[in-house]
Amino acid sequence: MAGELLLQELTKVFFGLREQVVAVDHANLAVEEGSLVTLLGPSGCGKTTTLRMVGGFEIPTSGEIYLAEERITELPPQRRNTATVFQSYGLFPHMSVFENVAFGLKVRRFRRAEIRRKVEETLALVGLQGLGGRPPNHLSGGQQQRVALCRALVIEPQVLLFDEPLSNLDAKLRVETRDHIRKLQKTLGITSLYVTHDQAEAMAISDLIAVMHAGCIQQMGTPYEIYAKPANTFIADFIGRANFLRGRVAQITEGEMVLDLDGGDSIVVAASDGYAAGDRVKVVVRPEAVDLVGPGEGELSGAITLAHYTGSMATYQVELPDGEVFNVEVLSPQEKGFLEPGTEVGIRIHRKSVHVLDVD
Ligand SMILES: Nc1ncnc2c1ncn2[C@@H]1O[C@H](COP(=O)(O)OP(=O)(O)OP(=O)(O)O)[C@@H](O)[C@H]1O
Ligand SMILES: [Mg+2]
Repeated sequence: MAGELLLQELTKVFFGLREQVVAVDHANLAVEEGSLVTLLGPSGCGKTTTLRMVGGFEIPTSGEIYLAEERITELPPQRRNTATVFQSYGLFPHMSVFENVAFGLKVRRFRRAEIRRKVEETLALVGLQGLGGRPPNHLSGGQQQRVALCRALVIEPQVLLFDEPLSNLDAKLRVETRDHIRKLQKTLGITSLYVTHDQAEAMAISDLIAVMHAGCIQQMGTPYEIYAKPANTFIADFIGRANFLRGRVAQITEGEMVLDLDGGDSIVVAASDGYAAGDRVKVVVRPEAVDLVGPGEGELSGAITLAHYTGSMATYQVELPDGEVFNVEVLSPQEKGFLEPGTEVGIRIHRKSVHVLDVD
């Protein structure tokens, strides 16, 4: 596709004095024109390094980068049509907001009238009209980040790169700015590669998420797919919260699979491809995908050892007979009643929400 960004077998090795670090390991990724793809993973997994290679700030050890079918792997930053929004804003403190945004256009030798028009249009787009005369340090953090976004947008790049752009904002502003970026990205149809270690942020902002671990892209999918059908234990655990139960496939019938849980009852779940009777499996159960019922009802039972009330939700830890802890989240605790530690409960698992993994 015309404006598509493609990473092929992209690899970056840093050679230190005593050791070498494989920061990015044969990453393959396609960002379709007009879509937003997020690299999501824990600290040190290679997200920034990948983004820096796309921006031209780091040359790959091997592999290729294509933008709109042009090979850009070794082009310097100013010769590729990308713009980056950094966590630290990176604004010039001695210049006004207007001059900060105008900078990229001046470098590209636009005429003065054209610069004024484009800067004012873009400032209005992010809701900063009338603030062009201020120095950046007379703005709030959220406004400064919008100036940084403006500066990236104004040059009309083919790809917008974001490296943890919301990290310096407080929780409420993070959500506001996130939604603002997403709306703007969709309205303008601008191809974007976004980096974060925050799974909730990734789920909210992305068309597709690439989950990275130790330099490798381990799964690529929609927010729904990576939450409901994580490819492995690491992803199930990293994306949201997960309970893991072990068991064995007892029987497979049309569209259904009976699992005998270790030290528990049986549970009937939707059949997954690739399993046969007798296979050992690991079952992923999200904390919200259960109901707390009376003791002896449901597939599991135990005693509540920890209970928190957070307003919209009650969170419980239930200790199972084998000593394992099972996390439960109950929405609207006002209606269902808040349970105190020590209460004996049964856990009924929503079988449609269960996901089955190989035992690793
Ligand atoms: N210039 C460098 N020299 C040597 N090693 C580096 C260099 N830059 C990054 N690394 C290493 O490469 C790996 C990936 O780093 P990277 O900054 O890409 O991670 P990240 O996923 O962005 O992490 P974070 O979420 O903490 O920002 C890390 O082990 C890091 O220590
Ligand atoms: Mg980083």
